[in-house]
Amino acid sequence: MKRSFFIGLIYSIIVYCVSAQEPSKPIYLDDSKPLEQRVEDALSRMTLEEKIAMVHAQSKFSSAGCSRLGIPEVWMSDGPHGIRPEPLWDAFKPAGWTNDSCTAFPALTCLAATFDPQLALEYGKAIGEEARYRKKDILLGPGVNIYRTPLNGRNFEYMGEDPYLASRMVVPYIQGVQQNGVAACLKHFALNNQERWRHNINVEVSDRALYEIYLPAFKAGVQEGNVWAVMGAYNLFRGQHCSHHDLLLNKILKNEWSFDGVVVSDWGGVYDTDESARNGLDIEMGTWSDGLTNGRAFAYDDYFLARPFLDKIKSGELPQQLLDDKVRRVLRLVFRTNMDRNRPWGSFATDAHAAISRRIAEQGIVLLKNETQLFPVSVGQYDRILVVGENAVKSLTVGGGSSELKAKKEISPLEGLIEKYGEKTIHYTLGYTSEPQKYDADSLRQVALALAKSADLVIYIGGLNKDHYQDCEAFDRKSFDLPYDQNDLIERLLEVNKNTGVIIISGNGVAMPWIEQVPALIQSWYLGSQAGNAMANVISGEVNPSGKLPFTIPKKLEDNGANSFGPSVYPGDSINVYYKEDILVGYRWFDTKKIEPQFPFGFGLSYTSFNYGKLTTDNKEYSKTDVIRLSCSITNTGGKDGAETLQIYSSQRHPSLPRPLKELKAFKKVSLKAGETKTVSFTIPVKDLAFFDDERHEWVVEQDRFTLSLATSSADIRSSVRIKVVE
Ligand code: GLC
Repeated sequence: MKRSFFIGLIYSIIVYCVSAQEPSKPIYLDDSKPLEQRVEDALSRMTLEEKIAMVHAQSKFSSAGCSRLGIPEVWMSDGPHGIRPEPLWDAFKPAGWTNDSCTAFPALTCLAATFDPQLALEYGKAIGEEARYRKKDILLGPGVNIYRTPLNGRNFEYMGEDPYLASRMVVPYIQGVQQNGVAACLKHFALNNQERWRHNINVEVSDRALYEIYLPAFKAGVQEGNVWAVMGAYNLFRGQHCSHHDLLLNKILKNEWSFDGVVVSDWGGVYDTDESARNGLDIEMGTWSDGLTNGRAFAYDDYFLARPFLDKIKSGELPQQLLDDKVRRVLRLVFRTNMDRNRPWGSFATDAHAAISRRIAEQGIVLLKNETQLFPVSVGQYDRILVVGENAVKSLTVGGGSSELKAKKEISPLEGLIEKYGEKTIHYTLGYTSEPQKYDADSLRQVALALAKSADLVIYIGGLNKDHYQDCEAFDRKSFDLPYDQNDLIERLLEVNKNTGVIIISGNGVAMPWIEQVPALIQSWYLGSQAGNAMANVISGEVNPSGKLPFTIPKKLEDNGANSFGPSVYPGDSINVYYKEDILVGYRWFDTKKIEPQFPFGFGLSYTSFNYGKLTTDNKEYSKTDVIRLSCSITNTGGKDGAETLQIYSSQRHPSLPRPLKELKAFKKVSLKAGETKTVSFTIPVKDLAFFDDERHEWVVEQDRFTLSLATSSADIRSSVRIKVVE
């Protein structure tokens, strides 16, 4: 007994000495302490110079930490579709790493076209795992700028023309990213709806359109998605640069919406110390670079929020409280990300991510026309299938600007089709080229036409390609037409072989002069690493297409709202651009002006067919605080399993202010086996029927009659119910 007593005594003395010596852990290092306590404790320990270092870049894609306190630097990476290859310290050029080839996920227009928030969550989680694995603390995405014109070079990075669709899809994407301990960075806030003169164009738009069309997806990302970072846009709004904008960043984002995260400038979007200090910017990035090319080298100490800001604080010209608020926000992001010891480790370019990438691609592809049931093409159905078009082979994970990727794998449509149908069946010819210096366009066309004559089936794969002016950052499209004389080639192919299916790959609508002649048409997207497998699975019928258009495709460009007024409305006069279509963006314009589009928002066919039952509601009258409960049945009346997105639009009978004819207020994607019937229910809070009264500066639901319509697209209503909102 004696021996064990003495051993125990000695042990407890040692423990006491050790614990007595161990200093109590500082609060900011104790992740059991509340976030705000850690923030205040860290802030209180930092010097003025250490604080200044945290609010501007130290390299092209990082900002400083505070090494004395063990606070790490913050590393950022593009983009919304995958993790960009590691750049050099002070240049956008890739550093030439050999272990940074990523999964290329489909473009966000494709994700929007799935109309499936669950897929958005899986997308966010997977891309967040790749960002985490690459030790990135901020993923510079997603982008949710509204598709106002089909000429905008960056629409492929965004989620379409409707604020409700973009809102429902962006929230789960953000949540998925951030569950990895990586901050999503919602961009480009706000009104960055064109690339033409993007650094200096000043947008003039009404408060109604601002609040009803251009802000909702950002607001949802902040208030529901709890996004930890927001990127200020390049353009100006009402005369002020969006990366230091009092109304947008202080009044709306941080006050009205209670955003507690970090505002990062776009790269090269900062022009002034006082404005940056006072107007809500928290980290200045990319100054003296236009976000892409020119710039001074290693100029970080001269940034507007670097030495000039320090000098103005020291001289008393600017209050230190402005700096402290910025640093609080950066510290909050740090404790949420690289100082959260419990965050997962991430994973990179895995089979699991490839599978998610493929599923999103498959679910986003939109079947627009299929009158002769040309699709699906069963394996063995034809002996000789000719694939024509450069987009069948061209890498589409590169190009497009800052969202470009170095993909570990990119299966082209041609590879996917050969894999599916065999190389004896699949024959290929370029048909057209984006490199006229390499090929003679006319001979390419002649060869394609000659081969098409003897083919059993022709599959044309063309579209845009993320080259300059063809869906690319900094370069809006110059035309609504397909480039490289594709229209002529498509028309001539249809003349020599009626059995021709056309697949357009793009992030924007395009003119379709051949639409009457083409028997089958698919709208595809920049599908990423698994493009060929996804496309072949849809073409073969292994996957039944279920995508719906996230934007309207006009018959001609001038039918589109923003393009129907003249240059002052788009692209502007290089100084100002006036959003005169106001709240009538996308289908809101076509509906209200009674213009028939080529293909409407929310449209997409299937290899099966669906029958919609009657829409019913739980009441006829509702108060302004009620929730409307709707229900309907839907039956798969065809012979194949499939999925359909049911949409609910609302129309107000006698609004006191002009309103669009109808607005999307709910949607649900439902899978149905052949012959299966399901009951689908929706809930719409009455407050969602509001419009923004810019005189009263508030959302207003009026006592009035409303029609709620169940639709398979914005132009195809299957059933409606009338309800009344009463006091
Ligand atoms: C670019 C883009 C922005 C990107 C940033 C960093 O100019 O506008 O979306 O995240 O600079 O590359």
